[in-house]
Amino acid sequence: MDQTQLPGAEVYVTLTTIREVVDAMKRLVVRGAPALGCAAAYAMALELPPTDNVAAWLTQLKKNACALEAARPTAVNLGVGVRLQLELGHGLAASGQGSPATWTKQLVQIAQAFHFADQESCLALSEHAQGLLHNGVSVLTHCNAGALATGGIGTALGPLHLAHSRGVKLHVYADETRPLRQGTRLTAWELARHGIAVSVLPDSAAATLLAQGKVDLVFVGSDRIAANGDVANKLGTYPLAVLAQKHGIPFYVLAPGTTIDPACPNGSCIPIEQRDAAELYDSASQPEGVDVFNPAFDITPAELVSAIITEQGLFQPHGPHQGLWLDYVNSFKA
Ligand code: MRU
Repeated sequence: MDQTQLPGAEVYVTLTTIREVVDAMKRLVVRGAPALGCAAAYAMALELPPTDNVAAWLTQLKKNACALEAARPTAVNLGVGVRLQLELGHGLAASGQGSPATWTKQLVQIAQAFHFADQESCLALSEHAQGLLHNGVSVLTHCNAGALATGGIGTALGPLHLAHSRGVKLHVYADETRPLRQGTRLTAWELARHGIAVSVLPDSAAATLLAQGKVDLVFVGSDRIAANGDVANKLGTYPLAVLAQKHGIPFYVLAPGTTIDPACPNGSCIPIEQRDAAELYDSASQPEGVDVFNPAFDITPAELVSAIITEQGLFQPHGPHQGLWLDYVNSFKA
């Protein structure tokens, strides 16, 4: 679904070239780290020559990988989807079994399996979060980490969808999420269409909302989690974590294991995508001599995170249970 058109219109697009997929990723037609990973895994099977020329098939596979990985640098899931397919492609070519045409079909099957695994992860992590959601609970979220952003029911919004389907009454506060307004346009649309009570607020109202005691929990997604538990997510997440600590409100990050980057020791190593000035000014309105600082993501230090909830359960990256988190992170290195 073309997410740039929501909430006005539900328009589906079919993308058949790498250029189209990369453009769709950059323009946020498809967005959200797990959804980008799924889209990238499928896209790796595009434009591969059906002839028996193995070298040409591998060359195109590598070209696909380079173009896709560069589309959105912070969302590590994208690279996971790409590298899975790249390794598979190299393995198939080295095996000498089958032909490029059959290998391409295998890549599509692996993309489907990757997509299915993401659905399962969303469900499992949502189940792990159910204990936090009692009747009448009020949850603040930022950006969109729902079904639109994943292959399944969502990460930060997944537990809310699940609890709602089981009759739990909840209220969601959705930050507007400047400048592209994923909260107002996507999260509010997604929750309202499922009958979940939702209020949107300007990002700058979050402090007032928390100070007034209107929020029980903060739930956010992530684009990349460093080995020490530092979390990259949509710009504006870090200030929410600071506020949550100030007001004694638990701050949870919900993400599948594919969002963890064991090769990245801490948040300072996470590449942060810089977005265009046009997201703040159209070309006619930008005053001369004015520069724009528009990072797409920020880093929340691990010590502000109450727990990271994945398909494997709740982990506390900071404090006495840090060892369990580190063991979990190390399991991805194998
Ligand atoms: O720039 P976006 O809209 O792709 O940013 C998305 C986010 O920051 C999400 O919170 C994150 O990808 C997690 S989605 C399950």
